[in-house]
Amino acid sequence: MKVLVTGGAGYIGSVVTDRLLAEGHTVEVLDNLTTGHQDSVLSGATWHQGEITEAGEILDSSFDAVIHLAAKSLVGESVTHPERYWHGNIVATLGLIDAMRSAGVRRMVFSSTAAVYGEPGVGQITEDTPAMPTNPYGASKLAIDHMLTAEAAAHGMAAVSLRYFNVAGASGSLRERHDPETHLIPNLLKVALGDAGEAKIFGTDYPTRDGTAIRDYIHVVDLADAHLRALKAAEPGNHAVYNLGTGTGTTVREVITAVREVTGIDIPAVEHPRRPGDPAVLVASGQRALQELGWAPQRSITDMVADAWAALR
Ligand SMILES: NC(=O)c1ccc[n+]([C@@H]2O[C@H](COP(=O)([O-])OP(=O)(O)OC[C@H]3O[C@@H](n4cnc5c(N)ncnc54)[C@H](O)[C@@H]3O)[C@@H](O)[C@H]2O)c1
Repeated sequence: MKVLVTGGAGYIGSVVTDRLLAEGHTVEVLDNLTTGHQDSVLSGATWHQGEITEAGEILDSSFDAVIHLAAKSLVGESVTHPERYWHGNIVATLGLIDAMRSAGVRRMVFSSTAAVYGEPGVGQITEDTPAMPTNPYGASKLAIDHMLTAEAAAHGMAAVSLRYFNVAGASGSLRERHDPETHLIPNLLKVALGDAGEAKIFGTDYPTRDGTAIRDYIHVVDLADAHLRALKAAEPGNHAVYNLGTGTGTTVREVITAVREVTGIDIPAVEHPRRPGDPAVLVASGQRALQELGWAPQRSITDMVADAWAALR
């Protein structure tokens, strides 16, 4: 297939591009480098530095699909500057969908997120769990999911939304380089490298096996594999939604233990009170992805830490 990857200079987009190229697809990358990195754009892909809104200048009927990862994705910023998320995510993606319709490109895989579910109670989150986002970031992704449902029904698009939970790990040198970095594993590795003083544990009195919060981590290479499966499985006139997770999850203390074991460094950890709005458990049911895409995560939390550590060093 010939595929346009928006956000292909970013963490997940670069790994998705790598897997597409490895499977023999033709890839063009569109990225404005706001949070991405020029050196993450793989040489086998055609490179366009530009905005999502400029996709119409690239797309033509020779393309088979778009994998749309480009987005603004900082929860805190979305609360203080929601307009950036309405424009940067919703309005920009509406333009992308229009451009795809004009060019006759009728297949999209979209990066949605667990943030569309907000803070559901304990238990596995399925695709039927009510979507009640608690911040503009999650709301902007949910709005795009609704757009895709309607576009598929009205105009025959083959659309898939992949709702990622926590993504971690690296693929060779392709790794997480967010600024600010809000994710646990890269922040723990900064401590291991001596670039940060200590690990912070927010909340030790949750009703979980060790009192710390549980999140569902998947390896970025497993995630990229899900994109390739979704690309093939997308059906015209249908918008499918898949949660991508392990169904079990890992506590903060378990992640810290994995980082200590992999790095051999005794990461100092300081306990803090719970942060407002942090649920005890956010874990996906991966049953639908397993049944319909044949996808299940293959790599463990230790693999994620080890690969991220190797990429850093
Ligand atoms: N990393 C995670 O744990 C996680 C979890 C859930 C969902 N997601 C979603 O996955 C996608 C990729 O996340 P990531 O972690 O790789 O982030 P990232 O910031 O590394 O990558 C996003 C890329 O999109 C580009 N971009 C942003 N706005 C753009 C615009 N208007 N025009 C063109 N390019 C633009 C950035 O420069 C960057 O290269 C995002 O949509 C994010 O919301 C990520």
